[in-house]
Amino acid sequence: MSLIQNRAAVAPLHRHFSLSTQAATMPNVAGIVASMRPEEPLHCVRPAAISAAAQAFVQAFNGDVLYAVKCNPEPAVLRAVWAGGVRHFDCASIAEVTLVRRLFPGAAIHFMHPVKSRGAIREAWVVNGVRDFVLDTQAEMDKILGEIGGASLDAKPGLFVRLALPSSGAAINLSTKFGADVETAIELLRTARGFAGKLGLSFHVGSQCMDPLAWREAMELAGMVIVRAGVAVDVIDVGGGFPVAYPDIDPPPLGAFMAEIDAAFDKLNLPNTKLWAEPGRALVAGGGSVVVQVQLRKGNMLYVNDGVYGSLSDAGILGFRFPTKLIRAAKSVIGAPEAAFSLFGPTCDSADVMHGPFMLPDDVAEGDWIELGQLGAYGACLRTSFNGFDRAALVEVSDRPMLETAGYEAAQDVTEMPFAFASAA
Ligand SMILES: Cc1ncc(COP(=O)(O)O)c(C=O)c1O
Repeated sequence: MSLIQNRAAVAPLHRHFSLSTQAATMPNVAGIVASMRPEEPLHCVRPAAISAAAQAFVQAFNGDVLYAVKCNPEPAVLRAVWAGGVRHFDCASIAEVTLVRRLFPGAAIHFMHPVKSRGAIREAWVVNGVRDFVLDTQAEMDKILGEIGGASLDAKPGLFVRLALPSSGAAINLSTKFGADVETAIELLRTARGFAGKLGLSFHVGSQCMDPLAWREAMELAGMVIVRAGVAVDVIDVGGGFPVAYPDIDPPPLGAFMAEIDAAFDKLNLPNTKLWAEPGRALVAGGGSVVVQVQLRKGNMLYVNDGVYGSLSDAGILGFRFPTKLIRAAKSVIGAPEAAFSLFGPTCDSADVMHGPFMLPDDVAEGDWIELGQLGAYGACLRTSFNGFDRAALVEVSDRPMLETAGYEAAQDVTEMPFAFASAA
């Protein structure tokens, strides 16, 4: 099964171009752009940065680390996460489950979407050996037990109750759509204990959560729920949400989050309970960038070939700003002053705008390229085919991440990743 087919299993897109080669040295982004002069978005994966961030997280966290596949299911990214020591995968769909199982026959796969189709549950259990499922309602528990054969089974499932949290101020709240309230979670834990080989309580403080105390407060709430439920809980899953840097956003170091988690967990005094985490962004954001081309300049408005219906979705309504680097098409200018620009995506929709501001040299012109960093997470995976703009390419590069990435400096002498070109589309 080729890498391209694996990719298509999660996000089927038209193939645009494909190169296959082996080289002693991995290329850099500027070199690739100079030779390809791409007119469609070019996704640049930095395997070394991803492996380093994954390794740093695995070393810092006192439990099992599940990579949240949704935030970038690209096989090159999954391989880099694996190379960093991650052996558990948080999957949200049967397509993700199938992809991970195909790539890593020995991986531990956990189905952590609280609402699943019956067919997906069955296929995950029977075909892919998935044993752990999350839920936040009795109806979902009934569905899971019904599809895998209920209490009559030799192998009992792992059942994880997802607890809703009060808002933590994270960039994206993940408790408005999913999560049981305290009373419901208590009931679900009691019922699930009777069927579960492994019983877990999970929560998610929200994505890009800058406050380590959010995990402490969530852990305290989880502890209260466990005490009131009065049943043994085998795993507390502290979710994802660990933040990364963006321009003018400098999160506390990973250790600050781990310290809060460890202290709060110790206080619960649950010696037979294990910790799990489901990070996405923190492992892969720094290891990905996208090169877009300027198709027109109107004052400080730049019309580019990717946008909110493509891989820059988070720069739309959510207003994320990404680090930028100009790659000039022709001229070589030294010392041009910087100015603030808005980006406009390629579709005809007026909502396809990213106000930024994005800082670039003032002489940026049509034909130039802009590399946008920190897009290894929630970039390529959010692309759509709206207006027909679904073509893009992918290349693995050896450049440094554009902003500081956990573990990268320390891992420089150790990590050696294989080189490969591949098509993302
Ligand atoms: C259940 C679950 N786990 C983990 C994640 C990963 O979150 P993050 O990328 O913020 O670490 C998400 C993100 O949506 C999620 O929904």
